[in-house]
Amino acid sequence: MTTPTAVCLLAAGKGTRMRSDLPKVLHKIADLPMLGHALNSAKSCAPSRAVIVTGHQAERVEKTAKELSPEAVCVVQEPQHGTGHAVLQAKEALEDFDGDVFILFADTPLIRPETLVAMAEARSKGAAVVVLGFEAANPGGYGRLIEGNGGLDKIVEAKDATEEELAVTLCNSGVMCVDSRTLFQLLDRVTNDNANGEYYLTDIVGLARADGLPCAVVRCDEEETLGVNSRVDLAAGEAAFQERARMAAMVGGVTLTDPSSVSFSHDTMLGQDVIVEPNVVFGPGVTVKSGATIRAFSHLEGCQVAAGAIIGPYARLRPGADIGEGARIGNFVEVKNATFSAGAKANHLTYVGDATVGEKANIGAGTITCNYDGYLKHRTEIGAEAFIGSNTALVAPVSIGSRTTVAAGSVIVENVADDALAVARGRQTNKPGLAARLREALAEAKAKVKDS
Ligand code: UD1
Ligand code: MG
Repeated sequence: MTTPTAVCLLAAGKGTRMRSDLPKVLHKIADLPMLGHALNSAKSCAPSRAVIVTGHQAERVEKTAKELSPEAVCVVQEPQHGTGHAVLQAKEALEDFDGDVFILFADTPLIRPETLVAMAEARSKGAAVVVLGFEAANPGGYGRLIEGNGGLDKIVEAKDATEEELAVTLCNSGVMCVDSRTLFQLLDRVTNDNANGEYYLTDIVGLARADGLPCAVVRCDEEETLGVNSRVDLAAGEAAFQERARMAAMVGGVTLTDPSSVSFSHDTMLGQDVIVEPNVVFGPGVTVKSGATIRAFSHLEGCQVAAGAIIGPYARLRPGADIGEGARIGNFVEVKNATFSAGAKANHLTYVGDATVGEKANIGAGTITCNYDGYLKHRTEIGAEAFIGSNTALVAPVSIGSRTTVAAGSVIVENVADDALAVARGRQTNKPGLAARLREALAEAKAKVKDS
């Protein structure tokens, strides 16, 4: 039987160096608050509980936490007396929990799910406390992991370390996996007798060893442990996330012709054999099915693109756009809350909002669904194989039947029946010779002005 797991996510910090009104852990990477990234990493261990320790702007952080993880319990740490004190706030919420507790930092969004799995394995092999460590290029202020006798002996905070300990480059990421009973027994014994006058979570390692309990280190790449403290770190986190997302897409069978110019969201789903041209931005909630092509400079969010469809170049798909198989959305076409059935096309300079477009319908250049009257939104229905002439305004609510033709330049305000032709524009009249006479009269008038 696998051991039950819980997550204790530390999210109380103020994040002064972000210089922001928004709490640090709510700043986004790939459209998801950092808090959500940490919760996502933990999903690999299928936690049955999540406790989020809030502090700075607790209500605001709790609101987002509940949206991301409705079952999570939020506890407030006020005032903040250190990481050990922070985890202690979760004691009550985890009182009846028996299993492994993962302690994660909400401002450390790049921990890989497989890293946490490796930590759970180390726990199952008998270590009471498993700490995630990394070889730091520049160990600076990180806590140092002091090993001995094949295990981890203690963690020393840089401020409290001896010269010899400071020379150690194996550093503490902050992430831990601890048996729940042991965790709170040890935490009750942690004191604040140190350089910062804080209750250090890291002290539980030394206490566990004094009790004869084995502790272990699991190592990861330094990149995973990136902690975000400033906007510069946030940009570095975003870059690292994007790099991973691009690699994952390509490994999954997506062609990216210029990977570094494509921006993903945390939840972008691209099927096999999707082709993405340069400078494409995926906002949240996009699914693109196999064999579709997203051409250069397109912007997609909250939309679905079916197999074989071609989007762009320079297309914009907004929330609720549902593009059917083999459909075509061309340059400078914006689609919002609208369904394009299989084979439907809008190739140029068009806005389709709050609409359904039937199979193989063809929407001419410059067509606009006038969906908004300044107060309410209204729908436009376009039937299968309808042909909408260029520069048509479809004033919603309006329904255009199947196999209809709408003449170019029409302003359509009334429904059009199946198989009908609709023309709604001024009738053309030609006056033979009139242009020539007009030019003569104007030339004469101009000559008179010059002479006077
Ligand atoms: C901590 C570790 C250090 C490690 C480093 C990695 C301790 C004592 N030290 O140091 O070994 O190398 O992280 O980045 O744990 N927090 C709270 N409540 C508090 C204090 C902190 O929620 O009272 C949260 C912070 O918001 C932050 C995290 O815990 O997300 C770490 O706190 P921070 O003050 O950055 O710890 P460090 O001094 O960096
Ligand atoms: Mg820190």
